[in-house]
Amino acid sequence: MGGRIRRNHVILAAAVVLLALAALSPLVLARSGSSRPLYLDAHQSVAARVNDLLGRMSLADKVGQMTLISVSRLRGNCQGTPGPLNPICLRRVLSDARVGAILSGGGEAPLPNTPRSWAEMTNAIQRYALHHAHLSIPVLYGADAVHGHNNVLGVTIFPHNIGMAATWDPGLVEQEEAATAATVRATGVHWTFAPVSDIARDFRWGRYYETFGEDPYLASTFVTAAVAGFQGKHGVSGVAATAKHFVGYSQPLTGHDRTPAWIPLRALRESFLPPFRGAVNAGVDTVMANSGSVNGVPVHASHYLLTTVLRGQLRFQGVVVTDWGDIEALHTRYHVAADSSDAIRQAILAGVDMSMVPYDAAGFTSDLAALVRAGRVPMARIDEAVRRILTLKMKLGLFTRPYVDARAADRVALGTDRPLARRAADESMVLLKNAGSVLPLGPTTRSILVVGSVARSVADQMGGWTLGWQGIAGLGTPPATTILQGIERAAPRGVAVRYVSGADPRQAATGARKAGVVVIAVGEQPYAEGQGDTETATLPSAQQKLFAAVRSSGTPVVTVIVAGRPLILSGVAGGSRALLMAWLPGTAGGEAVADVLFGRYDPSGRLAVTWPRSVGAGPLVYTELPGTNAGPNSGYHPQFPFGYGLSYTTYADGHLRVRVAGKGRLTVTLDVRDSGTRDGTDIIQVYVHADNSPVLVPARTLAAFARVSLRAGETRAVTLTIPLSRLAVIPGDILGTAPPVVEPGSYTFTVGTLSTTATIP
Ligand code: BGC
Ligand code: BGC
Repeated sequence: MGGRIRRNHVILAAAVVLLALAALSPLVLARSGSSRPLYLDAHQSVAARVNDLLGRMSLADKVGQMTLISVSRLRGNCQGTPGPLNPICLRRVLSDARVGAILSGGGEAPLPNTPRSWAEMTNAIQRYALHHAHLSIPVLYGADAVHGHNNVLGVTIFPHNIGMAATWDPGLVEQEEAATAATVRATGVHWTFAPVSDIARDFRWGRYYETFGEDPYLASTFVTAAVAGFQGKHGVSGVAATAKHFVGYSQPLTGHDRTPAWIPLRALRESFLPPFRGAVNAGVDTVMANSGSVNGVPVHASHYLLTTVLRGQLRFQGVVVTDWGDIEALHTRYHVAADSSDAIRQAILAGVDMSMVPYDAAGFTSDLAALVRAGRVPMARIDEAVRRILTLKMKLGLFTRPYVDARAADRVALGTDRPLARRAADESMVLLKNAGSVLPLGPTTRSILVVGSVARSVADQMGGWTLGWQGIAGLGTPPATTILQGIERAAPRGVAVRYVSGADPRQAATGARKAGVVVIAVGEQPYAEGQGDTETATLPSAQQKLFAAVRSSGTPVVTVIVAGRPLILSGVAGGSRALLMAWLPGTAGGEAVADVLFGRYDPSGRLAVTWPRSVGAGPLVYTELPGTNAGPNSGYHPQFPFGYGLSYTTYADGHLRVRVAGKGRLTVTLDVRDSGTRDGTDIIQVYVHADNSPVLVPARTLAAFARVSLRAGETRAVTLTIPLSRLAVIPGDILGTAPPVVEPGSYTFTVGTLSTTATIP
């Protein structure tokens, strides 16, 4: 009894102290105009403000800043049940554990899921932090805006990266990410876990569609553009970007997500690092570590990767964040750490600045603080991490503009950017086959039968990471034009458009016999991460049966594929008169498919990946190194090669010449001609091959590219500049540790069927 009373007194006293502290909080002081702390003075330099703030922080404040917690821990019962923000949870996470950053994982949205309620939610969290947490340090809020602000219902969804890579148009990605940043920021979110900077290697992997394709140089140009688009000039319009997942994530040996990768250092440096280097050079604010292991070492415990390479070689200055629960995994999954505290020690010493914990805030902060007190993690390492995090918060303007105008959020975010989404989807379409020029559909086509549930599925065309982690199922239907709607709206007057789902293939076959052309939509249902791994990469057997049924009608069949990876097509490739790869085209997918089918848009998309013939042929990339196998299946024999894609017009290029321009670069010039009867956009792809090299080089490597738009019959000289460094190789024996060099000698340059050589002195 007496104990209870004493405890109540303690609680009361603590409450009084807390209230007094809140009244004296720097924010309140600043508002009342008395002795404003330097770190709140926006006229001072960021470095000075960060130093001032750091000097005022306790150990508890500091480790709190290094903590990133899921919003699910701020609401409901604080343990993951849905519900509104709960003051008890807010106190535990933001006041008690002093957590400095919150995230929405895939699908973690407020209810109702509108931009306005996102803004109200993030404002409420911010208000709590500023009024109750020690020193009033604003919260940094992160989310996966990976193809638009994709967790929010009603916003425009752009194509996934694999489709964007097929545009070969990094400028378009920059525009798209700038638009995304504005939408994200309007909801009070400041940080996106994008762009994925992993290169596509293995199409069995469930995250293949999140990459910008298989070529390190092409992917780098997109990653660089994405960072520029997201971050802009910071202030209140840009968001912090994240190059993820550093490094080697995309080549798990088994093809399954988060399983071990074995990547020789030479390959890691030549193929996997370039997009990250691009991101760092573009000033990316944060880098997320790879959940997996490389060469037997979990990346989250690799000082070599996170510090020697990322800081020392790439010169990254920003914040390294973990992926989901990955410090804990060093203990529970990898068993390289004896317990959770040891896991934290290893990761922080390896170079992690912030842990996406994401649930147990107090567990992480108390363990980390204890490690510092015990001298097992130096305070200097903590200060370094916190300095980077505070610098980011200041650069983002959080100390001066912590809130957003919630009333404006719907206006900024709902239904905007539709023309941009349409252009992106248009440019991403890759025409793979067009036998007898069945496309574009012309005036002689009087009736079209659209077949397949994919043609009516908003979920399928959006893919994973849309409303939910695994796609939109059960979470509402975002505005979008389906393939069927796109065709209905685009069909010229007098053309009959009918639809069958194909649940009954015989009914579809009967319908097909009466139609002038069949457009069948096939593909994959949404998925994300490990749930999307496949060991077959084929079309579902029901779709194959449906295809066979409509094909048996004898009516020409146009097949539209909606998928995040090349699918093994078997009979579908041969049996279709035309094949169109639509990837995961997002909101405007149906319009874009119709634009290509009816010739309103001349397809300019080109594969940024290799399309293998069979699962057993993968992983297959065009940059595979030469071997000595003479068997019929060795070598590069894909269904469709990297860089491939058809147009409705024809191009005839000529007069290829290369000039070593001095100053470490060379120029490639050629005459590009639209030799057909339609205007079009061609993607000029310059490949290089060293005729002699001290280490193996691929038969061809992309060295430069350009989008060239021409009028029918027009010819234009186009010059591309290539820095010599792009020809560099890593010489030496198998360790691959030597610095890259450009070997003097003869190099062959090819563009389509043209080729020429040049000598590098
Ligand atoms: C993914 C990351 C993502 C994070 C937060 C992880 O499971 O690997 O790419 O940013 O979740 O949603
Ligand atoms: C989250 C995702 C996260 C995943 C990790 C999910 O519950 O919503 O964002 O990537 O867990 O496994």
